[in-house]
This record gives sequence, structure tokens and C-alpha cells, in this order.
Amino acid sequence: MTSTLFAGRICLITGSSRGIGLGIAKSLAANGAKVVLHGRDGSTLRSCLNDLLDPAKHRYIAADLNATQGPRAIAEELNRMHGRLDVLIHSAGILGPKTPLSEYPAEAWEEVLRINLNATFLVTQALLPALRKGAAPSVVFISSGLGRAGRADWGAYSVSKFGVEGLAQVWADELREEGIRVNAVNPGGTRTRMRAAAYPEEDPLTLPTPEDIAQVFVWLARPDTRITGKSVEARDWIGRAPAL
Ligand SMILES: NC(=O)c1ccc[n+]([C@@H]2O[C@H](COP(=O)([O-])OP(=O)(O)OC[C@H]3O[C@@H](n4cnc5c(N)ncnc54)[C@H](OP(=O)(O)O)[C@@H]3O)[C@@H](O)[C@H]2O)c1
Repeated sequence: MTSTLFAGRICLITGSSRGIGLGIAKSLAANGAKVVLHGRDGSTLRSCLNDLLDPAKHRYIAADLNATQGPRAIAEELNRMHGRLDVLIHSAGILGPKTPLSEYPAEAWEEVLRINLNATFLVTQALLPALRKGAAPSVVFISSGLGRAGRADWGAYSVSKFGVEGLAQVWADELREEGIRVNAVNPGGTRTRMRAAAYPEEDPLTLPTPEDIAQVFVWLARPDTRITGKSVEARDWIGRAPAL
């Protein structure tokens, strides 16, 4: 389905070379948005463009969020491409080791926090001027059930997602008056590489696909959606296509 609501709407999804990010990108593209994919590897991202409805209409940015210059590189490239941004969705993330805090390696702790939390702050900050030029801008952070209740062995991942929930609330409060909406989404267990690595004993076919859970992201990205400062469950939206 395509909609005039998304016509010309520029949507950047970090971590969209696969998994949930790519599922969201496909759903936004199917609704008429101009999508910008992101991941670390240009050749992977070029192949991903073929998964979108009209590969000629969409673009990609390759940048490593584990590198200091990654967030700024994304903003510079986006500005060169489009000069403004309407929708920013943060899907890039890593799991880190599943191990008790007493043995958690300090380097892995820093890497997980850098990619899952620090980079989401820095990418949003670097893209703020582009969002300010956007139409009814919307920013969405991807959280987790582990960002609301800590669980043994999930160390830095769980702590990073608590941080993401807080970060979304602070941005939402600071940007409300400017009309830039900021929300968080808990996708719930979803059929991706990350989930398979975290739960190798689980049958992936029992889980929703990234496309199944993408509807809430499409709804949050719409220019006529009003909510801000909320944390939403993607599972509640399965089978609930926003009326476009
Ligand atoms: N799947 C679930 O059940 C589940 C549940 C709750 C929350 N989440 C959250 O949902 C988000 C997406 O997860 P997923 O399951 O789709 O994971 P995934 O399949 O492993 O995809 C992760 C994405 O992040 C990108 N990424 C990883 N490290 C990066 C780096 N250093 N720089 C730039 N990009 C990087 C990857 O791109 P490249 O590797 O190509 O660079 C890939 O596009 C994550 O924030 C995750 O915490 C997932």
C-alpha cells in the first residue's frame, strides 16, 4: 500500500542492513517513504536496496557506530544527500557477552554502551539540525523488555536499554515544544540474527518477523501521529495496519 502521507518523507533507519531495521525500512518504503539504510558495510547495504520496493528511490550510508567519527559521518552524509530528515529510527545494536557482572569484560561493557546507548545520543544530536528542517519530525529508539527489568547475565545490554528508555524521555521533553516527537519501542522477541544468538535453543519460526512488528514504527513515523515521550510495545500492533 502506498500513501501520500509518506510521499517524499525521508526516513533514516540505523542498523537496517538486516533484522528489525531492514523490516522497518521495507515497511516504510512500501508506504511511499524515501528510505536511507544504514550499517557498516557498503556492499551489504547495496544488496539490501534490492529488498525495497524501488531501489532507485532509496539510499544508504555506511558508518561504524563503534568508531568516534561514526555519528558525525552519518549526519554529514545525510545532509549531503537530502539536507533534511523527517524520521530517525535507531535500530543498530549489539548483544555483547551473556555473562555475570562479576566476570563481565570491561572492554565489552564499553563497546555495548558505546553502540547501543552513546551512539544513539550522538546520532540524534548530530542529526538535530536536519530534523529541525524536517516535516513533523519523529525519532524512535528501540528498547527492550530488558530495559525495564534487569536480568542476570544480560549485563551491559540490559543497562544500555535502560539508558535508551531514559534518553528517549529526556529528548522527548526537550524537543516537545519544537514539535519533534520522540518515542521508544520494545519490539519483543523477533526473528533475527541477534535473537538467534541470544536464544540458540529457541525455534525462530515461533517468533514474529521484523515485518510483522513494523506497523508500530510506521504509525510513529506518520506526520499525523501526535504521541511523544512514550514507550510502546510492538507486539500490541501485530496485525493492526495503520489506516493510511
Ligand atoms: N531481535 C529481538 O528479539 C530484539 C528484542 C528486543 C530488542 N531488540 C533490539 O532491536 C534492535 C535491532 O536488533 P536485531 O535483532 O534486528 O539485530 P541484528 O539482526 O543483529 O541487526 C543489528 C543491526 O545493527 C547494525 N550494527 C551492529 N553493530 C554496528 C556498528 N558498530 N555500527 C553500525 N551498525 C551496527 C548491524 O549492521 P552491520 O552488522 O551490517 O554493520 C545490523 O544492521 C537492536 O537495538 C536490539 O537490541 C531486538
